[in-house]
Amino acid sequence: MRPVTIAPSLLSSDFAAFGEAARACERAGAEYLHFDIMDGAFVPNITFGPGVVQALRGHSKAVFDVHLMIEHPDRWIEAFAEAGADIITIHAEACIHLQRALSQIRGAGARAGLSLNPATPLDVLDYILDDLDLLLIMTVNPGFGGQHFIPAMLPKIEQARQKLDRAPRWVDLEVDGGIASNTATDVVRAGANVLVAGSSVFGHPDGPATGVAALREAASAA
Ligand code: DX5
Ligand code: ZN
Repeated sequence: MRPVTIAPSLLSSDFAAFGEAARACERAGAEYLHFDIMDGAFVPNITFGPGVVQALRGHSKAVFDVHLMIEHPDRWIEAFAEAGADIITIHAEACIHLQRALSQIRGAGARAGLSLNPATPLDVLDYILDDLDLLLIMTVNPGFGGQHFIPAMLPKIEQARQKLDRAPRWVDLEVDGGIASNTATDVVRAGANVLVAGSSVFGHPDGPATGVAALREAASAA
């Protein structure tokens, strides 16, 4: 089994103190920092843009994992890559020319991620496996932190892992939404190796470092 990567989501941190949150996650040993970019159109919420990613680049050596929940994501790929994104993930539901957009991400120098909403089938993967570095299975409907994990996503994660294993090289399988110590073991057992977590990290009563440690412990029980 691959080592599990923890990706704290800034969406659940104090919006007035992103720099502090980024440094706390790095100190806690989280390998990735997850940025939830929302446009008020693809999802019913608005967050922030590439300026925030760029401003934080000097505060963290973590892998910057940028999750674009926006319409026309192809228009923003270069801007986020230039801002310092290491991984750029776009939604299949938001993209008409998906294969082109995934190659555009690699062309911009980032790793190419694809995200699927809970109700989106896995068939979309069939002809683009060569173009993928990461698959993000949404385990809640995107738009907000603090929602409940959807249990029907567990068989989807298993099936996704089987499909990804047919790719010519390793593709990470990330999960996002409702990931806490009570769900982390199950998703890792199902095949996830990158865990995004907002409220279970930043909402942990003992602070984000304990939240990250709790996730890692749950993951290691898989
Ligand atoms: C939801 C976002 C998530 C969110 C997860 O639309 O993509 O990254 O921050 O939050 P929790 O971990 O609280 O479900
Ligand atoms: Zn996300």
